[in-house]
Amino acid sequence: MSFTTTILPSGHKFTVDADENILEAGLRQGFTLPYSCRDGVCGACKGKIIQGEVDYGKYQASTLSAAEKSAGMALFCCAKPKSDLVIECREVSTLNDIPVKLLPTRVHKLVKLADDVMVIYLKLPKRALAVSCRTIHRYPAKNRQTAQLLPGQCPAR
Ligand code: FES
Repeated sequence: MSFTTTILPSGHKFTVDADENILEAGLRQGFTLPYSCRDGVCGACKGKIIQGEVDYGKYQASTLSAAEKSAGMALFCCAKPKSDLVIECREVSTLNDIPVKLLPTRVHKLVKLADDVMVIYLKLPKRALAVSCRTIHRYPAKNRQTAQLLPGQCPAR
């Protein structure tokens, strides 16, 4: 069974299977909703359920308070639909609108935050980016490494 989710204010629509979360479904269909940890910890994917019902899933209690839930907020990396939904959240853009760039870069610094979370500081030719990702794909190229970055996922500092 699947449900239709409408994003406000853009009006974009996508389907979400009953056993997948809203974020996964949106990304699978080319909509770049904000996220970082994808595990109910960081709050980057928090948005508002305007209409419909969700199963909130498992998340860290401090990331989504009872008051926020009462106000209609949910973590889209954890929430699964129980009906058609209308949600409100910021959209970076559709993935199809973002050209994927392969950039030469250097790993400047690694900071381990937890067993499965590492902040990777990269140096690019013109400016440095701080990237907090679970994984980053590295492609060895001769004496340097390059990384494939999606601008919406890797905020500049
Ligand atoms: S992406 Fe971190 S809480 Fe959803």
